[in-house]
Amino acid sequence: MPEIYRELIKLAESDSYPFHMPGHKRNEISTPFEGAFRCDITEIDGFDNLHDESGIILEAQQRANRLYCAEETYFLVNGSTCGVLSAVSATVPKGGVILAARGSHKALYHAAYLRDLEIRYLPYKINSGYDIPEAYTAEDIMPFLSSDVDAVFITSPTYEGKCSEVHEIAKICHEKKIPLIVDAAHGAHFGFGDMESKDNGSDSVSYEQDLYTRVPESAVTQGADIVIHSVHKTLPSMTQTALIHINGELADRALVKRYLRIYQSSSPSYVLMASIDRCMEEMESRGRDYIDRLLHLRNVITKETIELKNIYIPGSKVIDDPCKILILDASGTMTGQQIYDILREEYALQLEMAGQVIALAIITGSDSEDGIKRLIEAVKAIDKKIEGIKDKNSSAEASSFDREKILYRDIPSQKIKLTKAWDSPREQVSIDAALGRCAGDFINLYPPGIPIIVPGEVFSKDIVKEIKTCRSKELNLQGCLYSRDSKEILVEVIKE
Ligand SMILES: Cc1ncc(COP(=O)(O)O)c(C=O)c1O
Repeated sequence: MPEIYRELIKLAESDSYPFHMPGHKRNEISTPFEGAFRCDITEIDGFDNLHDESGIILEAQQRANRLYCAEETYFLVNGSTCGVLSAVSATVPKGGVILAARGSHKALYHAAYLRDLEIRYLPYKINSGYDIPEAYTAEDIMPFLSSDVDAVFITSPTYEGKCSEVHEIAKICHEKKIPLIVDAAHGAHFGFGDMESKDNGSDSVSYEQDLYTRVPESAVTQGADIVIHSVHKTLPSMTQTALIHINGELADRALVKRYLRIYQSSSPSYVLMASIDRCMEEMESRGRDYIDRLLHLRNVITKETIELKNIYIPGSKVIDDPCKILILDASGTMTGQQIYDILREEYALQLEMAGQVIALAIITGSDSEDGIKRLIEAVKAIDKKIEGIKDKNSSAEASSFDREKILYRDIPSQKIKLTKAWDSPREQVSIDAALGRCAGDFINLYPPGIPIIVPGEVFSKDIVKEIKTCRSKELNLQGCLYSRDSKEILVEVIKE
């Protein structure tokens, strides 16, 4: 048996439970899609064409379009990645300016590279309690809407489930005739189910107030010009499936379509398109149940863990998206990575990602009660373990965890524009020798892939320190190389 297939079957037959994407959770009941090979065709007669749709694909797209209340919707079979590339390419002319958050997905950076764009950054707003990027208000964005900005790009929800004020941001962008692109890759489930509002009235977090009563409103109905949804992340659809929605007149639809033809495969998979269509049908007929189930599972987690002494899982007061379970040790004894490793190695629970502070699990309406129970029991056991470690180590500090501290991180200074820098001849040097030199490649923690440094930016003392810290904590650093003995971190810099 070939290796990739063998490993997949091994995983499918193992006890490992997926608290990560895709949203169908490898649960066959949630994706009744039999015989992929029998359905795997190319554009033969009677099956329409994704790049020039007029038949069954057009009808399927229209269903998705109705469901999300967009003016236009297209299927994507190359993930949100090709949606972001197309949206940015269609709204910003070559060499133009895009206003974006530093925490944007790498597809935004790749679009900027391909089109030689200037990325003008919004302030790099971090919630330091959790070490996650914060969402944006219209006030945050207003001062940066200068006349040379061609488009605004925000991510809402963020990877960790924070939502920006899309409605207000769209309004101020439209006053200046600037299109707003919302990367809602993680928000395909938004807008379904009840739109009952959650209680945000008090500062003191009581247990009931931390429960979820709804999912947030979709960016499509909040007035964004282009919205990109990864259907596969939080809905029951296969990996790589996504949607792009277009509203209003500020984004040129013909151009978006042109770039979709460029960035998507010329042999789009019918299996993937059928998977999106099935998912849309499912959400049309049973979307409310799917969301109710998600909210129920999410609230079970809150109820069962709210009293824990060390492990803290923020609820609806902090994290807008109920799919995102941030698990952290408020006593500061364990890092997110350690929690993630224990869950994986001792409990066969595979989470989505780990950072210095949090471990992140994704749940959806396709999770099983049993899976959720396993997570709760494991988290309770880790909580006890932390208590034991704290007892043994009497010098352990009391918790200094500050739940809602917002700070602004510096963005490295840029000496050379991204496109030129990434295309320049480079050389490898040790991280210490990189101080003061221009990066030749991206360095980021993955997932979610927010760059620590972008090609053309200068290695400062803080950046060098941050990279060393990530390495010492064994976080998943991408873009660095290591010397033979693994002791030295090597990075790429532009040749001088
Ligand atoms: C915020 C964000 N945008 C876009 C993408 C790209 O999505 P896809 O994997 O569907 O191409 C991701 C992937 O993780 C993401 O996290």
